[in-house]
Amino acid sequence: MKHFISIAIDGPAGAGKSTMARAVAKELGYVYVDTGAIYRTVGYYIQLCGIGPRDVDSVTRLIDEVNVELRYPEDGVQHMILNGQDVTDEIRSPEMSDYASKLSTLEVVRDFLLDVQRDMARTHNVVMDGRDIGTVVLPDADVKIYLTASAEVRARRRLAEFQAKGDKKMSYETVLRDIRQRDDRDMNRKIAPLRCAKDAVRLDTSELTIAQSVDAIKEIVEKRLGR
Ligand code: DC
Repeated sequence: MKHFISIAIDGPAGAGKSTMARAVAKELGYVYVDTGAIYRTVGYYIQLCGIGPRDVDSVTRLIDEVNVELRYPEDGVQHMILNGQDVTDEIRSPEMSDYASKLSTLEVVRDFLLDVQRDMARTHNVVMDGRDIGTVVLPDADVKIYLTASAEVRARRRLAEFQAKGDKKMSYETVLRDIRQRDDRDMNRKIAPLRCAKDAVRLDTSELTIAQSVDAIKEIVEKRLGR
């Protein structure tokens, strides 16, 4: 059976995982899998049903109604298809960030998504980013990177993203508070918390530009893959 290569990139919100993972995947010709988007898509459905993210019984009852597909059209963007409908843009609001983070603490949700993520890695060369890829989803990944940066730097980057999208209302203090809350929840939940895997290379991008970070990641990947 063909062995597909998997590169796992984990880290807290705003560390630059998606920017880096997308760039590295493009360079290598691998598929970029944004697993946060998968959690957001499930969250979007459950929220539309009017259910709170901590309501385990209702989530358990509804989760089998969710069908999540990942599509990669020509624009290279991972499109999220929820029960046949493209929800790629809808899942990106700050409300969905918070909702997905809360929902992702539930075992029933994590179990439900494990196969979706592992199937992608079984059938493609992937660069997969998330919180528990190197520790739980793909413990045998060929390369593992833990990407981080200080909360302040991550908040400044997130704020710039909001502003670039035309959202001028968001303040630095609000973004920083949201990032800290999400870090706390993602790192301290009982199941599959955000951790640096023992065999992961840790990279702090606080002082690095995007280009420098991409170069540093490429170097780690080349070394690990022996190229
Ligand atoms: O990467 P993101 O910010 O889009 O992820 C949204 C939330 O989904 C994040 O706060 C926690 C959850 N998540 C997770 O628990 N495990 C993953 N592998 C990816 C995301």
